Amino acid sequence: MVLSILQGARILATGSAVPDLCVKNEELSKIVDTSNEWIVNRTGIQERRILNKKEESIITLASLASIKALKNASMNPLDIDLIILATSSPNDLFGSAAQVQAEIGAYNAVAFDLTAACSGFVLGIITAAQFIQNGSYHNILVIGADVLSKWIDWSDRNTCILFGDGAGAVIIQSCAKEDNGILGFQLNTNGKEAHQLSIPYEKNYIIKTRNDILDINQGQFKYLHMNGKEVYKFAVSQVPISISKCLKSLNILPEHVQWLLLHQANKRILHAVANRLSISFNKIISNLNKYGNTSAASIPLALDEAIKDKKIKKDDIIVISGFGAGLTWGTVVIQWKC
Ligand code: COA
Repeated sequence: MVLSILQGARILATGSAVPDLCVKNEELSKIVDTSNEWIVNRTGIQERRILNKKEESIITLASLASIKALKNASMNPLDIDLIILATSSPNDLFGSAAQVQAEIGAYNAVAFDLTAACSGFVLGIITAAQFIQNGSYHNILVIGADVLSKWIDWSDRNTCILFGDGAGAVIIQSCAKEDNGILGFQLNTNGKEAHQLSIPYEKNYIIKTRNDILDINQGQFKYLHMNGKEVYKFAVSQVPISISKCLKSLNILPEHVQWLLLHQANKRILHAVANRLSISFNKIISNLNKYGNTSAASIPLALDEAIKDKKIKKDDIIVISGFGAGLTWGTVVIQWKC
């Protein structure tokens, strides 16, 4: 989609945070029937960070990542107009964004959660860009944070080897139209395949109220469930189509892309997508060997690392794609303007 805009939007700064506890593949091989070799060969993951300290939560991680992004932007938290927290693992079913707002002292900001699993950060950037490009807001904090470790069945080798916890944040700021850095996007959802990857809610008992006036269903969320093979096939077939459509709408050729930043799910998925687009592997930004799949956090975590490593230069074109539960997937193309 090509945007018609009143003012430009650009990513000003990034920040990230991960828990201290590092769990290596060898340690997982002591709790489920797996091996370091299997995990590295099939996924590229070597270790992941897991939240285990009682005093830490998704709010701690999201706030820390945000404070670092604010510091890197030399920005006062009171200047933030809006906070979008992309997460599927909030501390409170009503959302956690408001608590992040309070924690970082961004008292002038409206704050809400956005739930779109591993596509959440891409949707967060696009949502923020709408508020800026239509002239409503000037400074928006977009956070991708997830603590899926609390929804994993740690006896299921099909899933427990894949995921890790973390948070990443970006500050998106308004700018002149000519400096616009959020160029366009392409988004998709296929709810018919929702069962391939979910944390389902199960109704398991009925409460009868006094005098049997009401029967009320109650239950609880179950563990994360995934059909790995189907999710793999979905990602490698659909993500290249989304990227191609988005680039075409912007008249950008794949060879003019400097960086491919995909949701960090599996090294084989990253390579297969790059292959289908004829984008060279050395343009892939990846750090999933250290963090595994951190869901909504994976893209901003990898972006922050690439910025710190000074890989990304001014005016570089970065193709960012998220994919996952929903099923939801999509692309945003940005040009780095700092
Ligand atoms: N360790 C060792 N063996 C394992 C294993 C593990 N952790 N997990 C599965 N296996 C076994 C299977 O039981 C199977 O054994 P079998 O042939 O005796 O039945 C064998 O390894 C092959 O399993 P398969 O599911 O075909 O492996 P795969 O090559 O498809 O890799 C995934 C599995 C999960 C790594 C891969 O399907 C994947 O990455 N899918 C996408 C997941 C994803 O990205 N999800 C998040 C999207 S946001």
